Amino acid sequence: MKQHIVIAIDGPAGSGKSTISKMIAKRLGLLYIDTGAMYRALTLKAMNTGADLEDTQALTELARSTEIELRDGPKLRVFLDGKDVSEAIRTVEVTDKIKHVAKVPGVRHEMVILQRDIGRRASSVLEGRDIGTVVFPDAEYKFYLDADVKERARRRQEDFATAGKKIELDVLIKDVLERDASDFNRKVGPLKKADGAVVIDTTGMSIDQVVEKLLSYIK
Ligand code: DC
Repeated sequence: MKQHIVIAIDGPAGSGKSTISKMIAKRLGLLYIDTGAMYRALTLKAMNTGADLEDTQALTELARSTEIELRDGPKLRVFLDGKDVSEAIRTVEVTDKIKHVAKVPGVRHEMVILQRDIGRRASSVLEGRDIGTVVFPDAEYKFYLDADVKERARRRQEDFATAGKKIELDVLIKDVLERDASDFNRKVGPLKKADGAVVIDTTGMSIDQVVEKLLSYIK
């Protein structure tokens, strides 16, 4: 393997990106960078500071003045201005509001700078929506993970069940479709397959099968 490599993994919510990316990073001894966690952290700050989510200038300034740090380890920890927000960024309230923050060009600009900075310092697996298209279009390896909507909703249902919450599948299907709509239709950094990305439809595949498939492309 080359001395410094970047592996870009994009895909919609529930496509299995996070689980797969973490495992690939671990198997190859690379840094794992969850870019969604960065958008989540900034959204949390916007909510906590009462920022106007329609004010793109204010959100851009917020992004510029905020310190977001990811610490890789057995479990990724996310720090917002020095405070551990790893759990706080995973609430439904944050997930609901991200679209307002993630569509702001100035916010994305700041996030991309930060992500490139981390990815250039160490060989990494970056997962998100715009990694292969915008953040690292020259990444050594690019993947686009997908799965049908029902399966993605079912996976989210399992995640909630593990956390002790029972949610109807219909509600989660609606939720996944709404997130797709904002991810695919953003003017800046929308979710799309990057040129040269390997597309893997994970519907009906186990986590281990997907991991092995990705690894088979990495020399
Ligand atoms: O991967 P995730 O579900 O935690 O990401 C949360 C949201 O963050 C997702 O709906 C869109 C946004 N996001 C983004 O706009 N660009 C990225 N590179 C990663 C996430």
